[in-house]
Amino acid sequence: MATPSNVRIRRDIWKLSEQNVWHPIILNYAKAIAQLQTLDASPFADPRSWRHLAEIHGSSIPRSQWPAGAHWNACEHGSWYFLPWHRVYLHHFEKIVRDAVKTVHGPANWALPYWNYTDPARPKVRHLPPAFRDQLLPDGSPNPLFVNLRGPTMNTTGQLGTAAVSTTTALAESVFTDPAGGGIVPGFGGGVSGRTHAGGLPGSLENTPHGSVHIGVGGVNPPGWMSRFETAGRDPIFWLHHANIDRLWAQWLRTSWHANPNDDRWLRESFEFGSGAWRTILATSDVLDSRGAPLRYRYDDEPAARARPARATRARLEAVVRRGPPEMLGATRESVALGETPTHAEIEVSPARAAALASFAGAEQPQRVYLKIENVRGEKLSAGSFHVYVNAPPQARGAELAKHLAGTISMFGVLESSQRGETHAGEGLTYSFDITDLVARLSKRKNWDPNKLRVTFAPIPDSAGQVYPGDLKVGRVSLHRG
Ligand code: C2O
Repeated sequence: MATPSNVRIRRDIWKLSEQNVWHPIILNYAKAIAQLQTLDASPFADPRSWRHLAEIHGSSIPRSQWPAGAHWNACEHGSWYFLPWHRVYLHHFEKIVRDAVKTVHGPANWALPYWNYTDPARPKVRHLPPAFRDQLLPDGSPNPLFVNLRGPTMNTTGQLGTAAVSTTTALAESVFTDPAGGGIVPGFGGGVSGRTHAGGLPGSLENTPHGSVHIGVGGVNPPGWMSRFETAGRDPIFWLHHANIDRLWAQWLRTSWHANPNDDRWLRESFEFGSGAWRTILATSDVLDSRGAPLRYRYDDEPAARARPARATRARLEAVVRRGPPEMLGATRESVALGETPTHAEIEVSPARAAALASFAGAEQPQRVYLKIENVRGEKLSAGSFHVYVNAPPQARGAELAKHLAGTISMFGVLESSQRGETHAGEGLTYSFDITDLVARLSKRKNWDPNKLRVTFAPIPDSAGQVYPGDLKVGRVSLHRG
């Protein structure tokens, strides 16, 4: 089916910037933001005001001071609702910006561009697009796309690191979520959960590149706007980052056997934003086809025709589900600090269980091995992300070390989820990696001794090459077999 002409196209900001730093789509975005910022009188009661829109994501304004009809402090993280919630949020935002674009005499079909920071062939895309680094608009007035509270050098020469923008782990996930995973199988889209602001198990996409790009842009010392839930939406790049995350969801679904959950708890959940003439309320099932009403957009790299619906997924999903909840093989006894230099944790596995894992490489039954990193908490970040290695020799560096990489954990949300609040219990963040292939490789190289499992956390420096004193801790690291 051809794309109907009323489907708007969300375009790659770096490609627009290459044509013209102030391409009309970018300039109209800036002018529309300036317009919405004029509505910013406290208490941000106008649902179109820039601050009202940002407070929806996260808010430190006490509930008693919220304007009537506000649905604030509501972002869904560590949850299978992460992707649909943010899709509806973006749609709500885009409607309001499009209307503001009209008032500044822009086109009626304006659509939000996206920031694709992942292209190994074009390293420059890891920089913020140039229009976001200029202090002034072409007419000499202040540029609302420029934000001071970003990581060091991000407004000049700095760029995101290659680990922060990697989509490899996320796009390789075979299921969106694993209902039987017991909070261990991360999947692409996040663990089964109720509504949660900073809660359960994030999906692989939410961890990296999503979280690592947030902190990469915002910085850690001090955390800039993009690094915190309650300020992220005030940086205009937030919306282009989320358009990219939304695009990656569509891209993941183009692998024919990938599919969204087929579960009413997910499909029927609805999300509400704004009020009055600017109220949006939509359920997950309303937004799974972005080209149809009410969304009506597609990304410029999506085929013009709709992809055929995924098939053969049920068999795949059942293959995962039939294994049942993974079994824990061992765990650390003490918490582990995440510091300015690499730290290590040892997992003790009982001999009987170790024997089962030692024969892993030759096992007939397909089995998966997971590394879970639980309750990461703190009030001060030493780095925005950490590499996690398994059984890395103490002297290993570079390519040798990379062979032991289990994954990267992003600290976005750690500060919020460490505080006991109305919406969460202060449990911190939890991550999980499927390390089956890593374990298979290590055992082939005789580098896999499950009795002595050593996990290393190495901080990834920020855009200025720095790490900082902080107080981050991992509550427990555990090994599971499913
Ligand atoms: Cu709700 Cu990118 O965050």
